Amino acid sequence: MAEKFVRPEIEGIAEYVPGKAPTKPGVIKLASNENPFGPSPKALEAIAKESKNLHVYPDQKANLLREALAKRFGLSKDNIICGNGSDDIMQILAATYLNPNDEVIISKNTFSVYELVARIFGGKLVFVDLNNFEQDLKAIAAAITPKTKLIFLTNPHNPTGTSFAAKDFDALLKTVPENVLLVVDEAYAEFVESKEFPDSLKHIQEGRNLIVLRTFSKFYGLAGLRVGYGIAQADLIAPMLKAKMPFNVSRLAQAGAAASLNDKDFLDKTLKNNSEGKKYLYAELDKLGLSYKKTEANFIFINIKKSADEFFLKLMAEGVIIRPLSSFGLPQAIRASIGTREQSEKLVAILKKVL
Ligand SMILES: Cc1ncc(COP(=O)(O)O)c(C=O)c1O
Repeated sequence: MAEKFVRPEIEGIAEYVPGKAPTKPGVIKLASNENPFGPSPKALEAIAKESKNLHVYPDQKANLLREALAKRFGLSKDNIICGNGSDDIMQILAATYLNPNDEVIISKNTFSVYELVARIFGGKLVFVDLNNFEQDLKAIAAAITPKTKLIFLTNPHNPTGTSFAAKDFDALLKTVPENVLLVVDEAYAEFVESKEFPDSLKHIQEGRNLIVLRTFSKFYGLAGLRVGYGIAQADLIAPMLKAKMPFNVSRLAQAGAAASLNDKDFLDKTLKNNSEGKKYLYAELDKLGLSYKKTEANFIFINIKKSADEFFLKLMAEGVIIRPLSSFGLPQAIRASIGTREQSEKLVAILKKVL
């Protein structure tokens, strides 16, 4: 019945597949790369205080939060737009910049929201294969045509946790024409330890057309609050501020996110746990003879070389939820978030049992 009303662009969309939520107490969720220590305590305090003002609309441009972020990055608040998660920023940027049939370059086996927003606005998808589970920047450069409008990169990459190096990014930047918008989704940037990781904000400070996306969902432990942001030249941000819905970041979200930025103890603990957690997992996965990728994020990609969906069910029966990567087009691989040491030990014990 309703089909006759639906835009053809929407009919082609597959519904987003989220990580599975635990169905009983005691089950560990390592499926959505959330912070295993919960929300930032400073954010919780600020949220409690701000809740007294919930009868009043929020600041429609999230100015205090934008100012705090601008100060941190040595930029102006005009370089920043806040959204209801970074997913919201992706939709706003497609609504602002994408015309029907413009080409959108996306790596295959990647976070699916780029494809989703491109489809909603009638973009033409151009997929580029990964190379050994890493984004292939040379192949991405080769895929640019006169019709290309947007390129989405993810650094570190979800679901493989790999990152591309500054020298490769610089080489790509040289080949991207000025009329193409390069979007770099850095949802996991705060976890990065590699010295080769590109300083994308430096390029923005130098005036380059580039949109960097960041989020409070992962490192800051605020996935349920929904705050993300985009960073770019002021003249790229200004039209996006017009295209967004007026009050897209709630009062609680603005207050909580701003407070979490300065929660040093919580952030140090998060980073240390992640850094130690990945080393622990590398050692244990090596002992198990499993093939994995070294990660710059808060999750690890494991190529189990057999049905990930079946493996997922077996692990879930033992009380651990990971992410089978079939919905990413990788039916023989899984992604597990790096939890607390206790959670990682449980994951390893269950992997041993199930394998
Ligand atoms: C690469 C990447 N970008 C963006 C997001 C979405 O973040 P947000 O919660 O800010 O919408 C995720 C969440 O999983 C992600 O993995």
